[in-house]
Amino acid sequence: MVATIYILDDDPTYAKLLAANLGPAGRFRIAVFERPDALLARHADEPPDAVITDLVMPDLNGVEVTRRLRVADPHLPIFVLTGHADIATAVDALKAGANEYLTKPVNIDELLTLLTRALADRPLLEAGASLEQARGREYSVEAILGQDPKVEEVRAFVRRMAAIARPTVLLLGESGTGKNLVARAIHYSSPHSGGRFVEINCSALPANLLEAELFGYKKGAFTDAREAKRGLIEVADGGTLLLDEIAELGPELQAKLLNFLESRRFRRLGGTDEIEVAVRLITATNRNLEEQVQAGRFRADLYYRITVASLVLPPLREIRRDIPLLADHFRDAFSREFKKKVAAIDPAALEILDAWRWPGNVRELRNVIERAMIFSDGPLLKRAHLPPFGGAERAARADSHPDKFPLPKGLSLADAEREYIRLTLEETDGNIQRAAEALGISRKNLWEKRKKYGLLETAPDPGGDA
Ligand SMILES: Nc1ncnc2c1ncn2[C@@H]1O[C@H](COP(=O)(O)OP(=O)(O)OP(=O)(O)O)[C@@H](O)[C@H]1O
Ligand SMILES: [Mg+2]
Repeated sequence: MVATIYILDDDPTYAKLLAANLGPAGRFRIAVFERPDALLARHADEPPDAVITDLVMPDLNGVEVTRRLRVADPHLPIFVLTGHADIATAVDALKAGANEYLTKPVNIDELLTLLTRALADRPLLEAGASLEQARGREYSVEAILGQDPKVEEVRAFVRRMAAIARPTVLLLGESGTGKNLVARAIHYSSPHSGGRFVEINCSALPANLLEAELFGYKKGAFTDAREAKRGLIEVADGGTLLLDEIAELGPELQAKLLNFLESRRFRRLGGTDEIEVAVRLITATNRNLEEQVQAGRFRADLYYRITVASLVLPPLREIRRDIPLLADHFRDAFSREFKKKVAAIDPAALEILDAWRWPGNVRELRNVIERAMIFSDGPLLKRAHLPPFGGAERAARADSHPDKFPLPKGLSLADAEREYIRLTLEETDGNIQRAAEALGISRKNLWEKRKKYGLLETAPDPGGDA
């Protein structure tokens, strides 16, 4: 699909020149606007995939245009063009939610790189759904599904936090319980959410890179710092910063973060100026942070700072009554995504979903339904479409589900063999000898089949006895 780009500049000649420079015809669909109101009106009817706007314009400046676009569409890539004299205002545009500013004369390669990256990051939208509807569904409080009182509490917490201008929130709970979902809902349902939602996973980067990402740096602060760069804290100014997996933050950054939280000011690496920002800070972890504090791995003073308002998301096994509702929601979502007419879940299948322990919580349920939807063909999602649940866990539902290896219908012989071997290995907890015996083949033969089917990563190699 060709991306649509709107260019706004009070100098139409410049805008057309820029459009012509953005590459061969057909690469983008480009529309040029001379007046902001024309662009805003068209945006409401037909949202583009990206906007490039001039900064200084007679009736409505680029900062204001950015602000309005950002409110209407939290994820629209917006690039602001500016002359050298207006750099200070360009920073306001960033605060209003622009992705980047570029100084005129624009370096086309740079603009193309930024555009391509921003377009690639954009979430795919269902055909027909308007941008705003899709956003609303994805990120509002209503996207947090469940009727259990514990889920009601989660939604009430989100509403309370969204109503406060700059809360500091800690989200706890096992993996897959919805911490990221809740963080987004807090940001997007807040009337104060003019700024951006920025998230970073503290375990994703080594400490020095994470520090540079968070705080930004001056040109020359270290060898690779060829240009100055704003940190994520600055990018999130006026919006929300989610520090995910906060328990993984190293000791030095813990100290720096505490400092920042106490003063709401920081310095870029290599910089001397203190920068003040207003961000809503949300931290999240699936670890027991209190235990980390007791073990001396997480600073107690930082813990008290970030735990002002905290919420523990319930594991799925504690909100079992919502399993049918959630399962059906995912069935519906994937039947639309896969364009299948699977209208309901068979009661026998629901029974199995009900009995499962769900160590991976809602994410696991979502994955299980997604996989089942791939296999299902008729109007019902059936027990046979469900994946075989793992080794020891299966015992828990052995009575309600006597046939040990439910292989989905329609598998090729090779797929069935692969699945059967995988299940047998699971059943024997990876014991090669017992698995080979159960399958009636030699250990060597089993090893060759595992190799063929990519099943070698889980169990050790054979000792060579054929
Ligand atoms: N109550 C809910 N209603 C609808 N979807 C949910 C709910 N809870 C979780 N999900 C979905 O489950 C998946 C996992 O949620 P999320 O990524 O927020 O979990 P998490 O707690 O951040 O996990 P991790 O600790 O592994 O990062 C997402 O697809 C999310 O949309
Ligand atoms: Mg998460």
